[in-house]
Amino acid sequence: MTGRCVAVVALLLLPVAAQGQQAASPLSREINRQVDAVMPKVVTWRRDIHQHPELSNREFRTAKLVADHLRSLGIEIRTEVGHTGVVGVLKGGKPGPVVALRADMDALPVTEQVDLPFKSVARATFNGQEVGVMHACGHDNHVAILMGVAEVLVKVKDQLPGTVKFIFQPAEEGPPAGEEGGAGLMIKEGALDNPRPSAIFGLHVWPDEVGTIGYRSGPLMAASDWLDIVVKGRQTHGAQPWGGIDPIVISSQIVLALQTIASRQVDVTNVPAIVTIGMFQGGNRGNIIPDSVVMQGTVRTFDERMRADVKNRIRRTVENIAASAGATARVSFGSGSNPVTYNDPTLTEQMLPTLRRTAGADRVRISPLSTPAEDFALFQKEIPGFFFFLGVTPADVDLATVPRNHSPFFFADEAALPVGVKALAHLAVDYLSKAPKP
Ligand code: NI
Repeated sequence: MTGRCVAVVALLLLPVAAQGQQAASPLSREINRQVDAVMPKVVTWRRDIHQHPELSNREFRTAKLVADHLRSLGIEIRTEVGHTGVVGVLKGGKPGPVVALRADMDALPVTEQVDLPFKSVARATFNGQEVGVMHACGHDNHVAILMGVAEVLVKVKDQLPGTVKFIFQPAEEGPPAGEEGGAGLMIKEGALDNPRPSAIFGLHVWPDEVGTIGYRSGPLMAASDWLDIVVKGRQTHGAQPWGGIDPIVISSQIVLALQTIASRQVDVTNVPAIVTIGMFQGGNRGNIIPDSVVMQGTVRTFDERMRADVKNRIRRTVENIAASAGATARVSFGSGSNPVTYNDPTLTEQMLPTLRRTAGADRVRISPLSTPAEDFALFQKEIPGFFFFLGVTPADVDLATVPRNHSPFFFADEAALPVGVKALAHLAVDYLSKAPKP
């Protein structure tokens, strides 16, 4: 049965009062019933995962929980995709296209400060230091939501017009030093092959009114590039600077000049750009001018052309300021960079009615550009994708001061969970129903 037929039947069956701008089909109503039924489990999973967070590429317990659940549902799975990743394939009872849903599984080296009965007290070693571990970015919610979606879709499997691929991804926050990981490694290890989806959906919990959905067509989240700079001067006595080349003063000029790229050199009327130096190291004593200075930073852009342009300008600025003082400088853009999280405009347009129907039209809002980055962008480089924000801030909390993702005080209101499960389940089913048959 095509989507159009489903809609027509639904219109005939539904009482007039229930006919909204997009009437719910019998399948859609069955999905909502199944979401209600699975919610107690989703809450239990989420609390369990929250209490047992694991760092990037170390999501062993979480991956096992996911794999055991998918297996128990009769979903065909592949494990250890990109280290701890799990990929499940659910073939529906009817022919149709393939769609992917993605959840990230990793936590952060943050010590939880939220007083919850299922508060994390986990500890681990990160970059040689012992740290607290917390789901400070809320990925515990993403995993539990997608586990719930899998159960819901298995219950309506016979009516599914196509195949749903579940991608549980490690290391969204970036792999530990010296390791590969995240969306890029999963893609390399075949997460998008056999079968290849024609679209992918994902969500992120976000500090916004609980249960609302924030979306944006085109760029949503920034491209991020790590910036490494080494300025090489010549060491001398602090009282005799003319005897050497002072990399501290040169690097200070560089820091200031880099700020003129976004403010003076690129057209920020369309999309903004950010250049930040977050680390500046050189010297070990007040009366010694050191040999070199090391700086690290991050670059955020929302357009691939502007991204390349800003990187060229950074290189030019650093190298020429160093040269003007007789020093040399090396600029590199490190690994772990992410492209722009870009929502395919056609797909966004196509799926918007689904979001409005499932979350409520007044609860679906256009999101501002977001300067954090997200490696979901790498999936979107391969196939059209749609990524959106799920608000998790309790109604009585001020959005202006609420602790944001990565804060030790980050808190996600569980009232958002059913909205997330419904949104992803309906997006998958509506996409399969409407997309052209392969
Ligand atoms: Ni995150």
